[in-house]
Amino acid sequence: MSQQKHLVIVDDEPVILQILSAVFEDGPWRVTTCASGQQALDVMDAQGVDLLITDKNLPDVSGLQLLEHCRAQNDLSEVIIITGYASLETALNALELDAFDYVLKPLNNVFDIKRKVQRASEKQDYAMENRRLIAELSEKNAALEQALADTRQLQQELIQSEKLAGIGTLAAGIAHEVSSPLFGIMGLAEAILDEDDASVVDGHARDIVDYSATIRDIVVELSSYSRAAASEYLTTVELSKVVDDAVRLVERSVDRGDVTITTDVAPETYVNARTSEVQQVFVNLVKNAVEALVESGTGSSVRVLAGRTEGSVWAKVVDDGPGIEADKLDLVFDPFYTTKAPGKGTGLGLNIVYRIITKYRGSVQVESPGGQGTTFSLQLPVEH
Ligand SMILES: Nc1ncnc2c1ncn2[C@@H]1O[C@H](COP(=O)(O)OP(=O)(O)OP(=O)(O)O)[C@@H](O)[C@H]1O
Ligand SMILES: [Mg+2]
Repeated sequence: MSQQKHLVIVDDEPVILQILSAVFEDGPWRVTTCASGQQALDVMDAQGVDLLITDKNLPDVSGLQLLEHCRAQNDLSEVIIITGYASLETALNALELDAFDYVLKPLNNVFDIKRKVQRASEKQDYAMENRRLIAELSEKNAALEQALADTRQLQQELIQSEKLAGIGTLAAGIAHEVSSPLFGIMGLAEAILDEDDASVVDGHARDIVDYSATIRDIVVELSSYSRAAASEYLTTVELSKVVDDAVRLVERSVDRGDVTITTDVAPETYVNARTSEVQQVFVNLVKNAVEALVESGTGSSVRVLAGRTEGSVWAKVVDDGPGIEADKLDLVFDPFYTTKAPGKGTGLGLNIVYRIITKYRGSVQVESPGGQGTTFSLQLPVEH
């Protein structure tokens, strides 16, 4: 205890006060003696109180009243009652009011009193330490709850920002994809200007409509992907459609050499989720597979398979590429784990996949037996 405790001793018999102040003189406490109940009330109000020894029968204020006042002042204070009558009633009274202990007059054994005060003081120390720990715990608890809320918020922002960062790299590929129909349109439009034959103009116009539709589809795909998930409702997502969209987005945006991407999704496979998030999962898995195959020059096929079983939907993205070393399998879902050259990958793709899937109470695993390609498997519960 850094601060000295205040011990207040109250008795109307001067000799008792004298004895007790002598007993506690060299103790660790700051002692105040009071010859009346009123004086004790004033002292407690003015200076506070930690320990109180009081006569039970004072002429002005009863010892039990002092006890109550003491408790009101400091709810961790401890009180010892001095009484002239060794009756059961006195003992019960004192205990009922939660006095720490009582001592009998005449005071034959002053060391006994000292021991009792010592023990009361120790009990008080424990209670104070307890209270401090509880306060500290609840403070930490509040901080933890806040941290959890912040993390959730951050997670949502991260999912969105990774998607936007992903769009940067997708956009480069997509610009290329848009540019060929666009050049086609420009060429045809110029040709129309110089063309007199109505039937040729008609054919060019139809081609322009077709090219424009291609560009429109690309733009629609990209904008559905970039939509903020939080503003989107949970819907029944048809997996075959989302997988097709995701594959198309990857095909348009990543240079895949002679890697072929095939899909085999059982019809009527539905999950209850946000379309853009499910799409994000497949874009990341398929894009990773294609990138691994192209980068390493091994393997030539990426397959996306999906179907449903009782109560859940499963999907696999399987490639025959370089595989992942056994000791790296545990790392791939970690944020910022990447084997790509600086500036090429953020290492967030699979972490986002993991977050999205676990958010829907699903699970995702990776396997790469003996470096023979890589398989990412996911399961999502179907809830209604
Ligand atoms: N199909 C795969 N075959 C081999 N390695 C893979 C495959 N998929 C993921 N990896 C490994 O896991 C790492 C982490 O993938 P993740 O998608 O999280 O990040 P990234 O692809 O490196 O970067 P980003 O996705 O942010 O552009 C990759 O760098 C790669 O080493
Ligand atoms: Mg990736």
